[in-house]
Amino acid sequence: MSTIRLCALQDIADGQARGFCLGEGSDRFELLVARRGEDVFAYVNACPHRGTPLDWRPDHFMSPDGTLLQCATHGARFRIEDGLCVYGPCVGKRLTELAARLEDGDVVVSRSPGR
Ligand code: FES
Repeated sequence: MSTIRLCALQDIADGQARGFCLGEGSDRFELLVARRGEDVFAYVNACPHRGTPLDWRPDHFMSPDGTLLQCATHGARFRIEDGLCVYGPCVGKRLTELAARLEDGDVVVSRSPGR
């Protein structure tokens, strides 16, 4: 398992999320990191409904009230803390989580084997 330093915590506004792209070629994938205060949550940026990215514009991941992550395609909404879909066409399914933590003020994610 490899770890990747993405950005400084302050590069993600509190209560918002930001998208990242890692890898190259067939190894390339997109992820998002959501921030709540000093906590960060990372997920593969692919909706469990149809597999499309959640954001319709770069770094626009939040529901209008700012409490949930929202898919731009059909409006599914996901809890920030565990990626569970609580509204929309894939209720009960989850975003694919990546282990995320802070290290010296930076956001670091662990990339699972086989991803
Ligand atoms: S692809 Fe996300 S709700 Fe349909």
